Amino acid sequence: MNDVIIDQICLSNFRCHENYSLKCKPDTTLILGENGCGKTSVLEAIYIALRGKSFRAVDREIIKRGAEFYRIELRYNDGEKVVAIYDGNKKTFLIKDKKSMRLPVKEKYPVVLFLPEDLHLVATSPTKKRDYFDRVLTQLNSSYSTSLSRYNKALKQRNELLKQENVNLEMLFSWNILMAKYGVEIRKNREKLVEKLNLELTDTYHSIADNTDEVVLRLKSCTGDVGESEYLKLLEMDFGRDRLTGHTNFGVHKDDYDFVFNNSLADGSASRGEVRSMVLALKFIEAREIFRTLGKKPVVLLDDVFSELDSARQKSLVSNFKDHQVILTSVDGTN
Ligand SMILES: Nc1ncnc2c1ncn2[C@@H]1O[C@H](COP(=O)(O)OP(=O)(O)OP(=O)(O)O)[C@@H](O)[C@H]1O
Ligand SMILES: [Mg+2]
Repeated sequence: MNDVIIDQICLSNFRCHENYSLKCKPDTTLILGENGCGKTSVLEAIYIALRGKSFRAVDREIIKRGAEFYRIELRYNDGEKVVAIYDGNKKTFLIKDKKSMRLPVKEKYPVVLFLPEDLHLVATSPTKKRDYFDRVLTQLNSSYSTSLSRYNKALKQRNELLKQENVNLEMLFSWNILMAKYGVEIRKNREKLVEKLNLELTDTYHSIADNTDEVVLRLKSCTGDVGESEYLKLLEMDFGRDRLTGHTNFGVHKDDYDFVFNNSLADGSASRGEVRSMVLALKFIEAREIFRTLGKKPVVLLDDVFSELDSARQKSLVSNFKDHQVILTSVDGTN
């Protein structure tokens, strides 16, 4: 699939939208409306059609209350379309008359999604930071998403066993092996991403905020730079603690990211505007990295963030995404 241009989106029974249709422009489309009128839901539907699942909920919560199905139809300007239907039990994608239960990897299209909460990324919880960068990695590398879901499955099983009274190391062995294998892969991918982002972070930051500040992203890896066998040993060494707490204490599911601003932690030292510029810089690099890696210009979905930025940052947002299809929402008409 080459660069796509969304021409129209049609929704049925999607959250508050019983029947909804929006014609999109190839450059910038603005969705305006009051709080609660369903703006984020439209971006959510586009995201599902392009990426396969929502960024904020499971399908069950998305069907309009009282309805039996939801339907999304995304039409491109080359005449192709993606249809996603969820009937309360299963989701089906229809592309070129082919049916599949998941959006096939080759039909996924990259998205740079900018949510209001991303503006607080620097100060948010480790879980949310991990989720954020995992989303970036998943788009860049589909095998990362396989490693992550296998790791999470093993973690879940292992945690269930740890809650049993008679648990012993032998019972955990096969899960430990999987967690070591995928844990090391996940850590390496996270390290590589951080390295790549850091190559451009400070310069991109300067292009938004004209100054000499230095911004560095740091992975706070919980496992350190270990290979599979060492990882396995460390996981097993923690068994006593795991049995007491009833969950797995060692592993990449505890990783965190720090933003370092002029050699201090940004959370606590950088101003609100500086933090916003850091996040903007991340988004710009993400879009460039997607294009370099996948050869596709991501669709940019901006949810309610424009009005949160001052005019210099708004201008920077517009000029950085001028070659992309941008769909943005806003509650007022002043922007
Ligand atoms: N499954 C559902 N069925 C019906 N309505 C729903 C469902 N899920 C959410 N809603 C409602 O849909 C409305 C639209 O939500 P959405 O988040 O898209 O609004 P929004 O326009 O982005 O609002 P805001 O400006 O506050 O961000 C809300 O009133 C929400 O309560
Ligand atoms: Mg919203």
